Amino acid sequence: MGYSFQYIILGGGVAAGYAAMELEKLGLRQGLLGIIYKEENIIPYDRPCLSKDCLNPNLPAGGIVVPSTSRTYAHVSVGDWELKNLPSNWYSKKGIMLYPGTEILRANLRRKLLSSEKLVFHYETLIIATGSTAIRLADFGVEGDDAKNIFYLWNVDDANNLLDAMKEKKNGKAVVIGGGYVAMEITASLRLHNIDVTMVYSESWCMSQLFTCDIAAFYEGYYANKGINIIKETDVIGFSTNSAREVKEVKLKDGRVLEADIVVVSLGGKPQISLFKGQLEEEQGGIKTDSFFKTSVSDVYAVGDVATFPLKLYGEFRRFEHADHARKSAEHVAKVLHSCSCDLPWQFYGDNVAKKGNLVDKYDYLPHLNSCSFDLPWQFYGDNVAKKGNLVDKYDYLPHLNSCSFDLSWQFYGDNVGETVLFGDNNPGSSKPKFGTYWIKDGKVVGAFLEGGTPDENEAIAKVARLMPAVVDVNQLATEGLSFAIKV
Ligand code: FDA
Repeated sequence: MGYSFQYIILGGGVAAGYAAMELEKLGLRQGLLGIIYKEENIIPYDRPCLSKDCLNPNLPAGGIVVPSTSRTYAHVSVGDWELKNLPSNWYSKKGIMLYPGTEILRANLRRKLLSSEKLVFHYETLIIATGSTAIRLADFGVEGDDAKNIFYLWNVDDANNLLDAMKEKKNGKAVVIGGGYVAMEITASLRLHNIDVTMVYSESWCMSQLFTCDIAAFYEGYYANKGINIIKETDVIGFSTNSAREVKEVKLKDGRVLEADIVVVSLGGKPQISLFKGQLEEEQGGIKTDSFFKTSVSDVYAVGDVATFPLKLYGEFRRFEHADHARKSAEHVAKVLHSCSCDLPWQFYGDNVAKKGNLVDKYDYLPHLNSCSFDLPWQFYGDNVAKKGNLVDKYDYLPHLNSCSFDLSWQFYGDNVGETVLFGDNNPGSSKPKFGTYWIKDGKVVGAFLEGGTPDENEAIAKVARLMPAVVDVNQLATEGLSFAIKV
């Protein structure tokens, strides 16, 4: 069966949801947009909730994950996320066609066709928002992750399955493999379910892609105080199971063997771009775009995790696996499409077939006005409206990542390169720890991290990262700490 749309979004995650919302705000007409995605029985949602509210037994949404298009989601309350506010009939009310449970297996960008097992879709404009998929242990040659009670957390089904296991194995033992922020959030939720947790990671400290060892020391100390065991600088090499194929032990490279009723593997993601291999230019493992998210093929755009775009702030290509960027890039591309909508049929009314018996051309007038007074003659031809297309500025993203677990909450803005300055109270035993770090490159603050900040303070560190003020004296910066950001 075949369908044809003016716009197709391939992907039904964060970017898809925000692109649809923005297109609708900008006047998208009914019936022009189709959204195709693999997950069944679900509308686009804010994926970060999976490791936050959805698993946290102490939050109102804790444990409530609704895999049904007939109900509204009750989930993530991080920042100003809005997808949770959309009732599931919003898409049908707006004339946006959803194709859940539809995996696209082939893409022919020359013919503008996407094919699943049973359906073929034709588009005029394609927005690729296929996001990432979990890096698996098999990618490192480790086998046995198909045993029962070994989980990856990437979608609502995964979250539901993990929640069921947490309830079933209450007071049991869990091993979390990975030391990133998602692994840390999952670990906290397991602990809050009274499960005895060990984290295992190969790096020297947690969240090593972003944290300095000083920042990490705080979180590792805090987690240890919560009774969490952390094993660093070793790898998982395999598992042992019982006769029911349930995981029982995790084997480490350093020879240790850990008992486990639940294992969660959280090693990060890799972009899903294989459908477009050889058809689109790539960069840094993603799809190369310009500042308007146009790819190397006309009428094809890429946003969210898959897009490698010119980051205006630093003048270089970057790719981010951040929900904040997924949302902002999606909203940006919607504005771009709207700005050149003079070329697109949402400006077209009526029927696009030639009418019989109407062989005379349409009146084709070029507006013209002239006047003269004294010895001043003037002429005007055409239209006195701003030219549509390219009214949208280049995407100007400030990198941003945040996380929360237990009573902790951190925000990071900018770039984590150069020398660092730590400030504040980073004692994991403090009753109200509050600390931060600045990254300084070429004499300027380029990145800022803050644990325990208020909304105003978080805004202040975002401003610092955006404006990149010069640093005269690094020692003075350490003494001033947060007040440096507040007065910028
Ligand atoms: P996203 O992954 O959201 O959606 C991709 C969509 O494409 C899916 O609907 C998928 O089914 C579909 N798809 C892919 N291939 C397809 C095909 N061939 N056919 C049909 N459909 C296809 N970020 C952050 O900034 N802060 C945070 O706290 C977190 N927390 C977090 C927790 C967990 C558990 C995960 C897994 C991820 C995060 N992230 C995060 C990362 C964040 O969720 C991620 O950056 C965004 O979801 C990216 O949005 P996209 O729309 O690009 O992809």
